[in-house]
Amino acid sequence: MCGIIARIGENGAVDELMTGLRNLEYRGYDSAGIAVANEHGIEVRKREGETDALHALLSESPIDGPIGIGHTRWSTHGRPSDANAHPHTDDDGRVAVVHNGIIRNHDRLRNELVARGHEFESETDTEVVPHLVAASLDEGLDPEDAFRAAIERLEGSYAIAMIAEGYDAVYAARSGSPLVIGLDDDATYLASDVPAFLEFTEQVVYLEDDDVVVITDDGYRVTDLDGAALDRSSEVVDWAAGDAQKGAYNHFMRKEIDEQPVALRQAIEGRIDDDDRVDLSVFPNGELAEIDDVVFVACGTSYHAAMYGSRLLRRRGIRSTVARANEFAYDPLPVDEGTLIVAVTQSGETADTLASLRAAVGTDARTLAVTNVVGSTAAREADETLFIRAGPEIGVAATKTFSSQVAALALLAERIADEQEAVPLPVADGGLDRSQLLADLRRLPDAIESVVASDDALRLAERYRDADSYFFIGRGVGYPVALEGALKFKEITYDHAEGFAAGQLKHGPLALVTSNTVVIATFTGRNDEQTIHNVQEAKSRGAPVIGIGPESSTAAREAVDEYLSVPDVVPELAGVLANAHLQLLAYHAAELRDRAIDKPRNLAKSVTVE
Ligand code: AGP
Repeated sequence: MCGIIARIGENGAVDELMTGLRNLEYRGYDSAGIAVANEHGIEVRKREGETDALHALLSESPIDGPIGIGHTRWSTHGRPSDANAHPHTDDDGRVAVVHNGIIRNHDRLRNELVARGHEFESETDTEVVPHLVAASLDEGLDPEDAFRAAIERLEGSYAIAMIAEGYDAVYAARSGSPLVIGLDDDATYLASDVPAFLEFTEQVVYLEDDDVVVITDDGYRVTDLDGAALDRSSEVVDWAAGDAQKGAYNHFMRKEIDEQPVALRQAIEGRIDDDDRVDLSVFPNGELAEIDDVVFVACGTSYHAAMYGSRLLRRRGIRSTVARANEFAYDPLPVDEGTLIVAVTQSGETADTLASLRAAVGTDARTLAVTNVVGSTAAREADETLFIRAGPEIGVAATKTFSSQVAALALLAERIADEQEAVPLPVADGGLDRSQLLADLRRLPDAIESVVASDDALRLAERYRDADSYFFIGRGVGYPVALEGALKFKEITYDHAEGFAAGQLKHGPLALVTSNTVVIATFTGRNDEQTIHNVQEAKSRGAPVIGIGPESSTAAREAVDEYLSVPDVVPELAGVLANAHLQLLAYHAAELRDRAIDKPRNLAKSVTVE
């Protein structure tokens, strides 16, 4: 949701800023811009469209310098246009500003500034910032104090970076939107996210809310809003530059689908010991014994992973519910000291999920963030954090992180159940086979490798490319997988796709089913008989049905028109494997429609506004 980057070092800022913007484009791609400070003062180039449009503008009209800021935009206030693109400047072009977030009181500030003679050129909330800074410069403040004075007037969320004519520094601050410093011998960087500068340095400093930072070519200085020095130390990220690059792939999404075996190995590695005990290190032994209720909050794909995890907990006899994070903050569920609130979020920066996490503070419940991003806001604000270790995910459509989230939640479910000494129902009575679950979890990376290598979904994407609608159905853990399959399909193909609990079709949605509705049914090997009935109800209305399920499920295979199989594993894990086929189905369908797979229209990877 908008990416910002800043760089200060030797001459040559523009190339590195462009690299950073390309690496951040998953956060927004409506428009892009750069400003540099050089011997001419401040020079700005910005243009509506993706970074390629900005690149073309820079070729026609080049600029460069040792210091610069850049921005790639996902519009909130003001349509995508050259004028609304960042950076924004004051009337005299003395300062230039990039911003990620929303300034809620921008109307009031703008009216005040207009009354004092300032002229605005855009419809954005951001433009008030350079004008506020300019007003303080006019009163004699230096850029750092003027920047601080401007920040103090803002209500809302922001990560802001500013350069000022004649000053060898970048001034920045964060409140509610992410900002991280990158340290290299030759240059210092600031960005919304680590992948922006991973090609240049792996040495980072995570900033916290209300931090104000000044970077120079030889380092950084962090203070609070009153100017008191703060200690923010640096660390080395364990992501490699190649992890955040496409390499030989056409799309990040495809690369990340193929990375699932590695991501799953990392998620599981060192977390199950030889005696089948789950060690999550974040929780010392006995820590989870008192938990009697697990409430998940999450959005989008993470919500589906949370639904999956919640089902795994319930299979182990632990009470668990899932709330959409965009609702929980405003319609909270009752919680007490026995409740563990688990925020599942790939980025750790989703505003809705953070709002839910914050709503939990002040209750007696404990909080846990399950996230991919070290140093993210969720990781810092929750009581504990469980990292899913999937490596950077750049494609807007989440893929490998879903699998890793489910693996991490399966481990969490086992760990809680172990501590509570929960005795599972006998397998013969439909209970979960715990040792088989852990054995299959260990071999899940190999199993998913065979699914992504088969790529059987391509043929079906071609065969059914002209359908009116795609209905995804499933039962048990197959239900969140159906929802996830539909989300992925609609997100990148723009075709109509809906996910349903299999048994729900007959309660209404069946009225929409025709011979032009493709039904995609997920089977897990558990309660498939009922799902087969639901398939037959759809087939009787003429719908072609694709089944995805275990290799050995003859009944499921025979009930459908086409069948994509997955290696036989316990039903609780079969959904993760089926989901890989669904990711590939969506991917190929989008490719056939020539869609912008990594940057679907109207979306951005990290949604940092509510
Ligand atoms: C998934 O493909 C989406 N782009 C989106 O639904 C995403 O999962 C959601 O915005 C939540 O993001 P998070 O996991 O970073 O919190």
